[in-house]
Amino acid sequence: MSVKERTYIMIKPDGVQRGLVGNIIGRFEQRGFKLTALKLVHATPEHLEKHYADLKGKPFFPGLIKYMASGPVVAMVWEGLDAVKTGRSMLGATNPLASAPGTIRGDFALAVGRNICHGSDSVENAEKEIALWFPEGVVQYNHDLAQWIFE
Ligand code: TYD
Repeated sequence: MSVKERTYIMIKPDGVQRGLVGNIIGRFEQRGFKLTALKLVHATPEHLEKHYADLKGKPFFPGLIKYMASGPVVAMVWEGLDAVKTGRSMLGATNPLASAPGTIRGDFALAVGRNICHGSDSVENAEKEIALWFPEGVVQYNHDLAQWIFE
C-alpha cells in the first residue's frame, strides 16, 4: 500500500461506445485519485495480445482480442492510496452477474465478455501495463495547489 501507488485503468470499446467515459473518469476523480495519463487509442491485436499475454490459451482469448480491437479504448493511469486494490473494488467482479451494484460492472454490464472496464490486478502488473500503454511516460504533478489557483 502506498500513497503514490499507480494503477492502469482502461475503458474497453463497449464502455466507449455506450458513452460511459465521463461517468467512469468521474468515479475515479470523485474517489480522490489523481489522473496522471490519459489517451484514446484504437489498439492493434498484437498490442492487445501483449496486454493479455497471461490469458493466451484460454478458450475466450481470440474473442477477447477481437472485441478489444473492435474500437478505441480509453487508456489511463490513476495514482493514489492503494490505487490497485481500490481500483479493482470500484470495477467489481470480472463477471458482471457477480458484481455488486455500485461498482462499474455492477452498474453497467451483464456479460463477462462485455464488462466495460479493465483494472490492474497487482502493483507489479500495473507497472508492466503502464509501461506497455504509456512508453512515453506519465505526468508528474506539482502538488502545490496554490500554484494552480494563483498566478
Ligand atoms: P481476467 O484477467 O480473468 O479478469 P479481469 O479483467 O477482471 O482482470 O480476464 C480478462 C478479461 O477476459 C475479462 O475482463 C473479460 C474476459 N473474459 C471472458 O471473456 N470470459 C471469461 O470467462 C473470463 C474469465 C474473462
